[in-house]
Amino acid sequence: MSSQIDHLLNETRQFAPSAEFADNAIATREMYAEAKADREAFWADQARELLTWSTPFTQVLDWSNPPFAKWFADGKLNVAYNCLDRHVEAGNGDRVALYFEGEPGDSRAVTYAELTDEVKRLSNVLIDLGVGQGDRVAIYLPMIPEAIASMLAVARLGAIHSVIFGGFSADSLRSRIDDAGAKVVITADGGYRKGRVSPLKPAVDQALSDRGDGEQATVEKVIVVNRCGNDVDWVEGRDVWWNDLVPAASNEHVAQGFEAENPLFILYTSGTTGNPKGILHTSGGYLTQATYSNRVVHDLHPESDVFWCTADIGWITGHTYVTYGPLSNGATQVLYEGTPDSPHPGRWWELVQKYGVTVLYTAPTAIRSFMKMGREVPEQFDLSSLRLLGSVGEPINPEAWMWYRHVIGGDTAPIVDTWWQTETGAIMISALPGITETKPGSAQVALPGISIDVVDEKGNDVGDGNGGLLVITEPWPSMLRGIWGDPDRFVETYWKMFQDKGFYFAGDGARLDDDGDVWLLGRVDDVMNVSGHRLSTAEIESALVGNEAVAEAAVVGASDETTGQAVVAFVIIKESYLKAHKADGLAQTLRLWVGEQIGPIARPRDIYIVGELPKTRSGKIMRRLLRDVAEGREVGDTTTLADTAVMSTISRQVK
Ligand code: WTA
Repeated sequence: MSSQIDHLLNETRQFAPSAEFADNAIATREMYAEAKADREAFWADQARELLTWSTPFTQVLDWSNPPFAKWFADGKLNVAYNCLDRHVEAGNGDRVALYFEGEPGDSRAVTYAELTDEVKRLSNVLIDLGVGQGDRVAIYLPMIPEAIASMLAVARLGAIHSVIFGGFSADSLRSRIDDAGAKVVITADGGYRKGRVSPLKPAVDQALSDRGDGEQATVEKVIVVNRCGNDVDWVEGRDVWWNDLVPAASNEHVAQGFEAENPLFILYTSGTTGNPKGILHTSGGYLTQATYSNRVVHDLHPESDVFWCTADIGWITGHTYVTYGPLSNGATQVLYEGTPDSPHPGRWWELVQKYGVTVLYTAPTAIRSFMKMGREVPEQFDLSSLRLLGSVGEPINPEAWMWYRHVIGGDTAPIVDTWWQTETGAIMISALPGITETKPGSAQVALPGISIDVVDEKGNDVGDGNGGLLVITEPWPSMLRGIWGDPDRFVETYWKMFQDKGFYFAGDGARLDDDGDVWLLGRVDDVMNVSGHRLSTAEIESALVGNEAVAEAAVVGASDETTGQAVVAFVIIKESYLKAHKADGLAQTLRLWVGEQIGPIARPRDIYIVGELPKTRSGKIMRRLLRDVAEGREVGDTTTLADTAVMSTISRQVK
């Protein structure tokens, strides 16, 4: 099979930054040259300038045993100290770290001094419960300040956190707690979601109970945050209330330095097998790239910006751009507990107005769901404080990009489309605001200090104008250090394919345009082969969403007797379109539209109009399930879907 991916869609619009933005931008054009001249020296400079080390490092990169990298290995630092104490010591204790907004409308501003105090108390509590360097602590909490305090307190002790998204079930929780061998779990009675109390403690109780192979063996204590006041079951001797322990604990705790390679966290991500895949990140390199990328990509001016990354802390985006990046930079950010449309569809925009958010970082799936609702919703709020917009998690199609720019960014805020992964730890490919002329739909170029390529299956560069496999060609500071407990799987999954070249293969297809800018084409597992042409899901989806009727689209390849595979599309129609038009004949119109936009080869054989698409809890479309429907098979495992009912609805709609 050829790795060449055909390129069909042409997008030529380009937007230069305003002179004012460029003048005040943190990133500089020189950074590219500097990093290119001496990559390791560049990272060493970032690590020294951006972080405070208790023992300065003298070694930069140790790549003597690839793919197991060590960065800044003889240096020591405390990650929590870097995110908290040093800002207080610098006189910024009164600066707001978190503008917390609960879903019911309760709000609380937490300063750096207050957050530091809370983290010190919690650290003392954890010490009393026997947590020390290298111990694992599972965190299963809503998006509340205690969640961030918990991550930082664990980090402060040199222990390892494993944050598990609050929407995961007892089974997922159990397998993750078992895999990490967690000693303590921090949870809450519940959190608020969609106007209701969503209990959390019962899932922890279930997870720790006998689920067929005995009671969970490693957890000794469960700390329970009092959030909703809902009734909870209690296991004497195991369960303790946060409110009984933390306020009463001493707020004196001196942060100790740990080696740069001391593990910081495990974050589970879906793999191809049923075993949870615990991605392991360490301290010094991770914090360096988190701090650096947040500064240059989000143009973060800590003294004046109000940053808002909408990701849950259960995902890598929440780890790097809610907890570690913004706090290490000493910035002010918004932390919102609830869903975007609760209690009303304009909730996010109301928060942008209320807090004067200047930099917003969110996902294309959210942008498209706002497009579906219509621009009337955001237009009711004053969004003029926004000066920079970011996107992460999936390819953002040009139409969504343009809508984001126009409706949310008032045609002036630059957009940075940022490509990265749980495994990369921090942003790898992105425009630099104030420097790059942005192109709708392109992630553009590797950050200064990062080396990537688009290659064929032998690892040879495909050259500008061509599509292929996205690889990372040199180690980077925030790279994953392994899969928890499974070094062989780490080598096999990410390094085997281009072993002789030492490239990391990301699993994504990408294209380089004539300027060398990167366009992500989706996961290579999803690439379709139609009559020998390798077509990307992202481009056809993009063409569909380019039609005025379409809010969202997912495209899969279904086996076809004549063409090998045929394109099958599932589309959601915009509410505003349905108000003004009939849906009759729309599928045919859209088939022709795709043919006109990118060529007859890409024209879908079937188009199904559906109400929802199957998405994971982090908003990624699960094309595997749609392929089952398109090929008339029994639908496979749906347990990782955000809403498991979606697939039966779609199967019915398709029949
Ligand atoms: C996809 C999220 C296109 C990609 C930070 C990657 C993207 C996977 C982009 C990682 C983007 C992420 N454009 N695709 N800007 N950002 N992806 O681990 O397929 O949840 O491999 O990390 O999301 O998802 P993860």
